[in-house]
Amino acid sequence: MSAATRPSNDPFVHQWMPFTANRQFLEQPRLIARAEGVYYYTTRGEKLLDGSSGLYCIPLGHGRREIREAVTKQMEELDYAPPFQYGVPAAFKLAAEVAELTPPGLNRIMFSGSGSEAVESALKVALQYHRARGEGQRTRFIGRERGYHGVNFGGWSVGGMVNNRKAFGVGLPGVSHLRHTLIKENLFEMGEGTHGADLADDLERFVNLHGADTIAACIVEPIAGSTGILVPPKGYLKRLREICTKHGILLIFDEVITGFGRTGQAFAAQTFDVTPDIMTMAKALTNGSIPMAAIAVREDIQQTILDSAPPNTVEFYHGYTYSAHPVACAAGLATLKIYREEDTFGQARALAPTFLEQIASFKGMPDVIDTRGHGLLGAVELAPKGKPGERGFKILCRGFEEGLVLRAAGDSIVLAPPYVATPDQLGQMIEIMRKLIAES
Ligand SMILES: Cc1ncc(COP(=O)(O)O)c(C=O)c1O
Repeated sequence: MSAATRPSNDPFVHQWMPFTANRQFLEQPRLIARAEGVYYYTTRGEKLLDGSSGLYCIPLGHGRREIREAVTKQMEELDYAPPFQYGVPAAFKLAAEVAELTPPGLNRIMFSGSGSEAVESALKVALQYHRARGEGQRTRFIGRERGYHGVNFGGWSVGGMVNNRKAFGVGLPGVSHLRHTLIKENLFEMGEGTHGADLADDLERFVNLHGADTIAACIVEPIAGSTGILVPPKGYLKRLREICTKHGILLIFDEVITGFGRTGQAFAAQTFDVTPDIMTMAKALTNGSIPMAAIAVREDIQQTILDSAPPNTVEFYHGYTYSAHPVACAAGLATLKIYREEDTFGQARALAPTFLEQIASFKGMPDVIDTRGHGLLGAVELAPKGKPGERGFKILCRGFEEGLVLRAAGDSIVLAPPYVATPDQLGQMIEIMRKLIAES
């Protein structure tokens, strides 16, 4: 029965699901009822391994008591207060704690509700910063092919994920894209590829074409996540940093996936030893429990914007009803406490070599055309069968039947396990994935 012909009292027709093959879902619903640790349980009681940490957002696994209790307590004390012209203590505390984790200097934190919102915040800070210092003509942005920066207009415009772009027209004007970094010379190399640092020189070409003084910022994910785990070539991010610095272009790292230990350090900026001017984060900030995101901004960038406004006026015309929501702040504080006390990022560091070895072990299987990964992000790319992406989607659906939740980025099968997964659980994820790929 097609979606259109299902009766209106059908309980499934009313929710229009995001980023979902809605019609297929109605035919074969994948319903999750409950979760605990690294497992989901379906409405039929079947157990599934969470191989993708939710959507890269629950490093600690599901259902941590400390987070639940902190959220409950906050709800009882203060469920909401307006974030414009008023503040809540938990937000200042959380900002200070986040600033402890970010690279030195990136210690001004503005909260929002999602990664997409954080990206918009970051782009706007870049524009207003240049205006405040008398370079308001710097309005261009440089993104990258196969980048993903969320779904809002700024974010998809600087992003380079084809399906996210082609339905919605032209997007922001003045956006150019660097070439992506997935090159054949680096196939099957785990970690940073040996070749391709010079792809960063694309930025110089845009400088030559448009003039550096028209470019506000360059935004990249240190590791492109949503398009299939594209690890930067060795030296690539450093080169990008050098070019940005040389030309007064702000470098924005979108760390929505890579933030909070995914690469073994708090942020990929530290793992790759490259400090951006602004970074975004979300997802693992609250271990996925309550929507929350943030940007971390260089202190002097914030100061420049503050100083450019007359006293007693709003300096930055931006914010959301749910910015710094007290309940999200409570979830964030409880999450960061666990990260500190349990050395969660250390756990990720310890698990990563085994994980990457397991991902690399897919090399040589029929139709495997690449394996790649870094930290606890790994991808096995398959030759397409049928239309591009069809095979990946089938594997995702079969995974639900075989007990594994995973991501498919086109025909790349992506695993991003919770950091608390045991080597045994990791092994089970890999074995299910092997079976799914073999039969696909
Ligand atoms: C790098 C990156 N930026 C932005 C976003 C958008 O985040 P959200 O879905 O919370 O809006 C995502 C989501 O996966 C992401 O991976």
